[in-house]
Amino acid sequence: MKALVLSGGTGSRLRPITHTSAKQLVPVANKAVLFYGLESLADAGITEVGIIVGDTAAEIEEAVGDGSKFGLQITYIPQDRPLGLAHAVLIAREYLGDDDFVMYLGDNFIVGGITGLVEGFQANKPDAQILLTHVPDPRSFGVAELSESGQVIGLEEKPEHPKSDLALVGVYLFTPAIHDAVRAIKPSWRGELEITHAIQQLIDDGADVRSSVIHGYWKDTGNVVDMLEVNRTVLESMDRRIDGEVDDASETIGRVVIEEGARIERSRIVGPVIIGSGTVVSDSYVGPFTSVAENCKITDSELEFSIVLQDSSIAGVGRIESSLIGKHVEVTPAPGVPSAHRLVLGDHSKVQIRS
Ligand code: TTP
Repeated sequence: MKALVLSGGTGSRLRPITHTSAKQLVPVANKAVLFYGLESLADAGITEVGIIVGDTAAEIEEAVGDGSKFGLQITYIPQDRPLGLAHAVLIAREYLGDDDFVMYLGDNFIVGGITGLVEGFQANKPDAQILLTHVPDPRSFGVAELSESGQVIGLEEKPEHPKSDLALVGVYLFTPAIHDAVRAIKPSWRGELEITHAIQQLIDDGADVRSSVIHGYWKDTGNVVDMLEVNRTVLESMDRRIDGEVDDASETIGRVVIEEGARIERSRIVGPVIIGSGTVVSDSYVGPFTSVAENCKITDSELEFSIVLQDSSIAGVGRIESSLIGKHVEVTPAPGVPSAHRLVLGDHSKVQIRS
C-alpha cells in the first residue's frame, strides 16, 4: 500500500498566513500540520509516499526532505496548477502503479491517526472507502448521502442544499479502480477535476464504496478559532518537558514544553504551552493553549490561547489572546488604543499596539 499526499493548492482561505507560506506547513503545537499526516501514514505501516507539490514545492521539499526522518521514502510529484484532487490522482498514475493507496490531504488533521482505518480497508477490501464527519455547516465541504443501511449513494461538492451533515474528511482509501474513474470525469464549473465526481463515478459503475464516520477532525477553513482549537487539543496531550533554560525567578506550571535553546526569564508559564528553541520569554506571562514557535521574543507581555509563528517579537503590549500571529511579525506598543487585542497577523506584519 502506498500513500499520495496532496501538498499543492493555493490556500486562499488561510490568507494572509498563506500569502508567504505553504498552508500544509502551518504549525500546530510547533509542528507542521503535514508532519502529523506523514507520521500517521508511517504509523499505519506505509513507507512509500508520493507528495503532490505546486508553487510551494521548494518550501515543502526543504521541510520534508527525503522522508527518512519519518521512516518514509518520499517521491515528489509536481503539479503545474491546482487542477483538482482527482487531477492529482491522474498525474500520480505512474507512481501509484497497481497498488492500493491512501490519499491524504496535506492540510487536514485527524486526531488519533489512521492505523485502524487502513487495517480495516485491507481486511475488507472494498473498491474505495471514504471518511466522514458530522459538521454544523456542510455547505463548504464535499457532502455524502448514505442509504438507510449506511452505503454511500451520492456525493456532492459544496452543495447549497446539503442532503446530510456528513462531510468528507480529507483521507480516502482507494484501489486502482479509481484510475478509470478519474479519467472518465470532466472538470467541474470551477475548472477542477473533483475527487467527489470520481467517487460518484465509481458508485454509478456499481463499485463497493464504503464509509466510516470519525471524530476528532480538523480542516483549515480560514477559521482561526478552529486552528486555535486544534492547537489546544494537541497541546493537551503533550507531556511536560523542560530542555531549555528557566531562571530562578520564573515559574512553569503543568504541561509545559520548553525546547532546548529556549530561555525563560522572570516569567510565568502556565501550561499547556510549548515554547520553541531559540525563543526568549522575559518579564511575561504565557498562559494555557499557547504555542510560540522558534526564535521569537516575548517581552513584558501576556499571551494566552494563541499561536505565534517563527521569528516574531511581541514587546510591551499587555495582554494578547485568541490570536494567530505569522512569521517575522513585530508587535510593539503605540499610544491611544484600548488594551484588549485580538489579532490575525500575516507573515512580516508590523503592528503597533498601546500597552
Ligand atoms: P483545498 O483546500 O481543497 O484547496 P486549496 O489548497 O486550493 O485551498 P483554498 O480552497 O483555500 O484556496 O486542497 C486540499 C489539499 O490538497 C491541500 O493540501 C492542497 C492540495 N491540493 C493539491 O495538491 N492539488 C490541487 O489541485 C488541489 C485543488 C489541492
